[in-house]
Amino acid sequence: MPASLNFGGQSVEPWEGETVLDALLRVGIDAPFSCKSGSCHTCLMQCTEGPVPAAAQHGLSDHLVRMHYLLPCQCHAQGPMHLRAPQPDDLLTACMLCEAAGHDDGVVRLIFEPQPALRYRRGQTLRVVTASGVEPEIVITSDPAVDMVMTGELRLRPGTSLPEGFGPDAEFGWMFEVRGPFDGVPSQGLPMTHTDLALWHELDEGRTVRAVLEDFYPKVYADERLGPFFRGVTIERAIDKQYSFLRLAMTGEKIYFGDRPRNAHHWMIITHELFDFRQSLMVQTLREHGLSEAQIQRWTRFEEYFRPDIVKSTSWPRVEGGVEIYTEGFERETLSAATLCDHCGAEVASGVEVLYHRRLGTVSCPTCAPKVAA
Ligand code: HEM
Ligand code: FES
Repeated sequence: MPASLNFGGQSVEPWEGETVLDALLRVGIDAPFSCKSGSCHTCLMQCTEGPVPAAAQHGLSDHLVRMHYLLPCQCHAQGPMHLRAPQPDDLLTACMLCEAAGHDDGVVRLIFEPQPALRYRRGQTLRVVTASGVEPEIVITSDPAVDMVMTGELRLRPGTSLPEGFGPDAEFGWMFEVRGPFDGVPSQGLPMTHTDLALWHELDEGRTVRAVLEDFYPKVYADERLGPFFRGVTIERAIDKQYSFLRLAMTGEKIYFGDRPRNAHHWMIITHELFDFRQSLMVQTLREHGLSEAQIQRWTRFEEYFRPDIVKSTSWPRVEGGVEIYTEGFERETLSAATLCDHCGAEVASGVEVLYHRRLGTVSCPTCAPKVAA
């Protein structure tokens, strides 16, 4: 029986000696991968139907093996397989707690070390596995590209208590287990779980808040990347909405009648990098108004709280100097000069449409990559 592979409704017959990963890539299935040698686990997938060769599970935890996970870069199919992307619920990672701080101000900030290392993005969430089954969320605050350690904020739903090991007497080395990381976090409700009435008073009963916003928004409107989002929105409206939002956030008063941040930004493609840039403009403005670094941290905490609702979870192309840089996935290209197919070696004439993998720079000819996988 031919060992056909199915992923997300697309099918491919692997060639003799070809790994499952290479077969998927050959026909344009955008499978994640990095080392292609079984060590990084980037390519991890789950097999929902069909035999899983033991060699393709080498190095996976017993838990993943039981759930038919495999490494496609190490897999030579022994029969038809139905494959799917890993389910965040299944991904359990042991973590070592290094520090838990901030119990007094309502948000427990964690430094921890996943073992083995975890692939994640800032703003994703992890769920702490507990005996009771209630799984408090950690919102990841570190950025894997720049931070040496992994950090996060533990969020408790109203009425739930801190999980064991995370209290003020938390000890270095406490081991816990997390699920995830997850992308689509539940929308953050308003008001938030913490307020900061003292900050509102320190900011002259909100007068400094308004003055800051009156200086911040002209910068946003003048910026070539942030400005276009506000087309059709008067600057007065933007300032008023943000003022009411911050007042509600800091004081807990019920005066904000706008959208929740998730809805307000639902159509906007905002990357972490753009969010960080907006925050850098905000921090600059707060400094100009004489806020101390501690006050700036207390202010921006309210904004950071909504990062997962504002930054879209799909990985968007990086934007550098206004230009979108695509480094992932495929595109169909019409050849302007003849070339050789990187899979079967056949000559492909100029004018023929091929499938091009952006990161690998490889070309699949129409025979190797039939149209379905575009
Ligand atoms: C790069 C980052 C951001 C961009 C480009 C952005 C853009 C926008 C735009 C264009 C609007 C106007 C929507 C409208 O009136 O139709 C808006 C509204 C709003 N934004 Fe942002 N925003 C960003 C970050 C933030 C952050 C960090 C917060 C704070 C948590 C925030 C809170 C709000 C609120 C409360 C509104 C008003 C919602 C309403 O109209 O009811 N935004 N934002
Ligand atoms: S790509 Fe690294 S383990 Fe498969």
